[in-house]
Amino acid sequence: MLENKQSSNPLNGLCAALDKNENYQKFKVYRDKVLALGNDSLEKTIAIAVSLCLVCAVLVSFAAVALKPLQVGNKAADMKKNILDVAGLLEEGTNVDSAFADKIEAKVVDLATGDYVDNINADEFDQRKAAKDPAQNVAIPKDKDIAHIRVKAKYAKVFIVKEGGVTKSIILPMHGYGLWSTLYGFLSLDADGQTVQSINFYDQAETPGLGGEVVNPNWRALWKGKKVYAETDQPSLEKGLIAEADIGEPALALIKGSVDTSKPGAQYQVDGLAGATLTSNGVSNLVRYWMGEEGFAPYLKKVRTVKGAKS
Ligand SMILES: Cc1cc2nc3c(=O)[nH]c(=O)nc-3n(C[C@H](O)[C@H](O)[C@H](O)COP(=O)(O)O)c2cc1C
Repeated sequence: MLENKQSSNPLNGLCAALDKNENYQKFKVYRDKVLALGNDSLEKTIAIAVSLCLVCAVLVSFAAVALKPLQVGNKAADMKKNILDVAGLLEEGTNVDSAFADKIEAKVVDLATGDYVDNINADEFDQRKAAKDPAQNVAIPKDKDIAHIRVKAKYAKVFIVKEGGVTKSIILPMHGYGLWSTLYGFLSLDADGQTVQSINFYDQAETPGLGGEVVNPNWRALWKGKKVYAETDQPSLEKGLIAEADIGEPALALIKGSVDTSKPGAQYQVDGLAGATLTSNGVSNLVRYWMGEEGFAPYLKKVRTVKGAKS
């Protein structure tokens, strides 16, 4: 019975094979020689240290390889959560996978033309990876690189939120440099491609309590209802409230201090982050870049014409 158990154990087979191996026999002789040395011996100290490093390296490599699928799965689930959050669809107990599958459609957009790219599988397209691939990216001319990102992917992945076949909102990815880090996030717009629903930053390394306040729900709430594109240049432009913005250009920006809602132009302004003007400027710049001609302006011009249409 015991013999049977031993012979069915795969480790026994491995040990038997090792015992027959010439190199393993040499290793065993060396191991016994080293173990017989005194603890103060330099050779023993080095041999033990090297063995320990090898064992640790094997364990770490094994863990990295074995946990990779889990990490990839968690990352994808986290991204879905962020998208549902900016879409206003994330509530306590929401089943992320089914809510995402039911309500959100990912599409790939050609940034230059604003058209959908149908021959790329949107679920598999990774815009951040594409931005690093010379075959899939384009350099941004210095004078246009207000978000300080140097290159961008030719194609972007957008998310359409639908209810009963009608587009409720459009979620656009954005990124740009703050003070310490590149901030990655999403801006969610109404189907009019003009009114902000929400913003969130899911990856950034600004200082917690200063620039890191970009993730504060109270600050994020200030964005709801703001307008992206200048609808009029008077009187806001005259008063310097939407400087540099012509009609139809991105005017949305963070200002220093609090927005005075009684003043014209307030619809294009969001409170700056206290003590974090540099991050605030970074956020203004990245929003303006991605909503501009270099970003999603060509796309939004096209989808705006089909506002509320059944598709
Ligand atoms: C340790 C440290 C961390 C800081 N982190 C940020 C930051 O994340 N974002 C930011 O804009 N400013 C940060 N600042 C402040 C900037 O250096 C700069 O003073 C500030 O942006 C000016 O903003 P204010 O005019 O609103 O005070 C930090 C300063 C210190 C000393």
